[in-house]
Amino acid sequence: MNTAVKELRVSTGISGLDKMLKGGLIPGRSYVLCGTAGSGRTTLGVQFLQQGVKQGELALLVAIDEPPAEIRENGRFLGWDVGKIRILDVHPTAKAYSKKVSMVEVAAQRSVGSLREARDDARTDAMKLASPDLSVQSLQLMLRQEFLEMRYSRVVIDSLTTLKRLSGDQDMGTGIVSLLRFLSESNVTCLVITDVPDPTAVEPEIFVSRGEIRLHRLMTGTKMERCITIEKMRGSSHDTVPRPVTIAKEGLQVAAGKKVPKTALTMLQNVPGSLR
Ligand SMILES: Nc1ncnc2c1ncn2[C@@H]1O[C@H](COP(=O)(O)OP(=O)(O)OP(=O)(O)O)[C@@H](O)[C@H]1O
Ligand SMILES: [Mg+2]
Repeated sequence: MNTAVKELRVSTGISGLDKMLKGGLIPGRSYVLCGTAGSGRTTLGVQFLQQGVKQGELALLVAIDEPPAEIRENGRFLGWDVGKIRILDVHPTAKAYSKKVSMVEVAAQRSVGSLREARDDARTDAMKLASPDLSVQSLQLMLRQEFLEMRYSRVVIDSLTTLKRLSGDQDMGTGIVSLLRFLSESNVTCLVITDVPDPTAVEPEIFVSRGEIRLHRLMTGTKMERCITIEKMRGSSHDTVPRPVTIAKEGLQVAAGKKVPKTALTMLQNVPGSLR
């Protein structure tokens, strides 16, 4: 890889994955990071944001699945100081119950005026407990507000699947296309975490995203094998071979030069929609 090309890529913070991506992600685009439960998506997402922080960038985690305190604690267990990653807690219960304005941790850096507004919002939301108003559209509005105040380079949404479940949107497809378009116009490199897409369903994020990285957790006999595949990467060549993944105290690592064990490969080939 020559230096000019390398400079145009965004490092994921995982050297083996950067190798698979021929240098990293193309900046300013949104990618789907999907996988089964416990496959390492949040870990990879946090590592991607940490890498940005290390490079002096602003990095934002949109927390829908897990509360910020837990994400920070998990980071500490892995020996990372994730204090510089900004976390936007958009879970509807966080909004509804928040008396401390904990729904937007980043609000701590805002003006007193907007803090007061945030408190008022929380009160209004408490009245709307029966139908929390978190939706793809409201997330886009929150991000628009956030981006007016901060110049983020990296964003992780964890997870779009939970957002879809919580949202009462009728026309989800339009909302998702609009959100991904907004992210791309905002020039942030974004990982959108999802569950493994149903191969028989039309998942708009898969069609609209610029790439798809998939984490797999496979039980082979009594052993659990982890691996990663690049399913799609617009505008770039990439590794088409599944590569072994480990999660240990250093975080998630990809063995870019190695092959996954035969038993795991056979299982992978039998997963609908995988290695297509
Ligand atoms: N310090 C560690 N050492 C070894 N393995 C770890 C460590 N921390 C986490 N793990 C492994 O990583 C898994 C969790 O990864 P992570 O939360 O990133 O996955 P996920 O795909 O986001 O899962 P979820 O479905 O819960 O959202 C754990 O279940 C565990 O197997
Ligand atoms: Mg997770």
